[in-house]
Amino acid sequence: MEEPGNLTKVFVTSAAGTFGSACVRHLSTNLPTTRVIGSVREMSKSRDKFLDLRGNNFELVDVVGDRGLESLTRGMRGSDAVVIIPPNQRRVDVGKEYVMAAKNAGVRFICLLSVSAIGKREVMIARQFAELEDFIKETWIDACFLRATFFAENLLANAASFKRGSFYHPANPDARFNPISAADVAAFATAAIQRNFMEKKGHRGALSSAPVRADIYYLTGPGAVSMVEVAEILSKVASKFVRCCCCCCFFPLRC
Ligand SMILES: NC(=O)c1ccc[n+]([C@@H]2O[C@H](COP(=O)([O-])OP(=O)(O)OC[C@H]3O[C@@H](n4cnc5c(N)ncnc54)[C@H](OP(=O)(O)O)[C@@H]3O)[C@@H](O)[C@H]2O)c1
Repeated sequence: MEEPGNLTKVFVTSAAGTFGSACVRHLSTNLPTTRVIGSVREMSKSRDKFLDLRGNNFELVDVVGDRGLESLTRGMRGSDAVVIIPPNQRRVDVGKEYVMAAKNAGVRFICLLSVSAIGKREVMIARQFAELEDFIKETWIDACFLRATFFAENLLANAASFKRGSFYHPANPDARFNPISAADVAAFATAAIQRNFMEKKGHRGALSSAPVRADIYYLTGPGAVSMVEVAEILSKVASKFVRCCCCCCFFPLRC
């Protein structure tokens, strides 16, 4: 990886989540001279997740949640870039608060975790992320939107049922999807932040009236699989039969 110059500080919101924790981990490991700040709602709940990172270039702060915009702005001040990860609840309101804090703090680059389904107006989450992307464009801050597919790590939520030999999937188990590892998206985010920083001559800075650059990336995994195929892969790897159950297994008369 190329020397990042003096990229001094990167702030990551929702650091305790699936993507947030992958992101602070990748940033702090690969940019050893950069201060990486991970923000969490509850320090006591999140501290143990990052024991291996503390004391180096990584710091955990609890400036989010009910603490208000001013606290968040103070936490982001001095950051070259902010990684915005809107939470699952109150996605738009909290996401906009993150963006406003970045703008008030004079941050020059926003990296937003978005979704690949963005163009599908019938999907609520896609509409919410479209609103956030538009909101960021209106701030006149350079940005990149990482439109990622389903995280492979989400499948680990089923780990206990995998062990029992069957797991439940609420959607059509034959429908294919293209999972990507949150760690790979984190590596991409790190590279995008570095690239933008090194191309700084193109920076117009926050609040400039010049047109801003919002780079859009669609990030998918290595290939499409169905949940039935996931079960087949697990069966092979674990050398035991693992079955994917859909709603038909529970309510056969309704299907
Ligand atoms: N998972 C996917 O497949 C995927 C793919 C692309 C995009 N996305 C989107 O990316 C976002 C994050 O996904 P994820 O999988 O990383 O989620 P996650 O693991 O559920 O993490 C969400 C984080 O947000 C924090 N949070 C919740 N409510 C908050 C609030 N009101 N204020 C501040 N922080 C709050 C949580 O903190 P606590 O730990 O304190 O609860 C948690 O750390 C979501 O909007 C999701 O839709 C997800």
